[in-house]
Amino acid sequence: MNLEKEQRYVRFVEMIENLMGYKEQILQDRIPRHIAIIMDGNGRWAKRQGMARMFGHRQGVETVHRITEAAAELGIEYLTLYAFSTENWNRPKEEVDALMALLVDTIAKETPTLMKNNIRLQTIGDISRLPQATHDKFVACIEQTNQNTGLTLVIALSYSARWELIQAARQIAQAVQHSKMLVEDINEETISAHLTTRDMPDPDLLIRTSGELRISNFLLWQLAYAELYFTDCLWPEFTEEEFYHAIVDYQHRERRFGKTSEQVR
Ligand code: FPP
Repeated sequence: MNLEKEQRYVRFVEMIENLMGYKEQILQDRIPRHIAIIMDGNGRWAKRQGMARMFGHRQGVETVHRITEAAAELGIEYLTLYAFSTENWNRPKEEVDALMALLVDTIAKETPTLMKNNIRLQTIGDISRLPQATHDKFVACIEQTNQNTGLTLVIALSYSARWELIQAARQIAQAVQHSKMLVEDINEETISAHLTTRDMPDPDLLIRTSGELRISNFLLWQLAYAELYFTDCLWPEFTEEEFYHAIVDYQHRERRFGKTSEQVR
């Protein structure tokens, strides 16, 4: 194709794409296997409505429900949501307590939906720090959904990447100390195998809402080659359409993993 023809073709494709919704533009053979999301902006959204922060978190749960169903429907294998970081324990006690109670209510309410949609629940993070009721609800839901074969919904709870890397370093050091491993044998696989995400593929796409351009101690090792998508939209108002947009945007990127363009084409 000569240059002029190619440019006309590109304009034609763009015109067609503009007439389609983002969902219709998603290429089924390039669906990301694993999407991770930093759900941010609940507090700011609530403040804009003149409401307390918990109002934003409750609305945020509605978004979790919608986006999880959308991900399951698209055939995404893993969806990891950053629900509560290690640093979030430092928030005012009333907010932490209310969030923990909200998690209990949400799991109780949503378990039938997970079963109906064949979704398996998992958590990453130090869930031993959770209040007993929250801990037990999650453990029960993980067991109940364990045999589901569709989307794996991973909730990061009391999670931070530095905490996770410290755990991994300690376990590896102990293995060396007990002569179960040689220092020379430590490689990328060793580290990956000692992280809480050991059975999952690394995220292909990271989405962060609310306009903040940070990773905030989330999956620092696993995001090494993830495509990043930032949106100003606050989590309670994040729509399925914006989610599909993030996937379409990801599918238009060239993932080179350090190689040249020519090598990956
Ligand atoms: C970030 O907004 C949000 C959180 C720290 C909590 C998110 C938790 C939920 C939506 C509940 C999730 C439930 C399940 C079952 C996964 P922010 O409070 O930091 O907002 P701000 O930056 O505007 O203050």
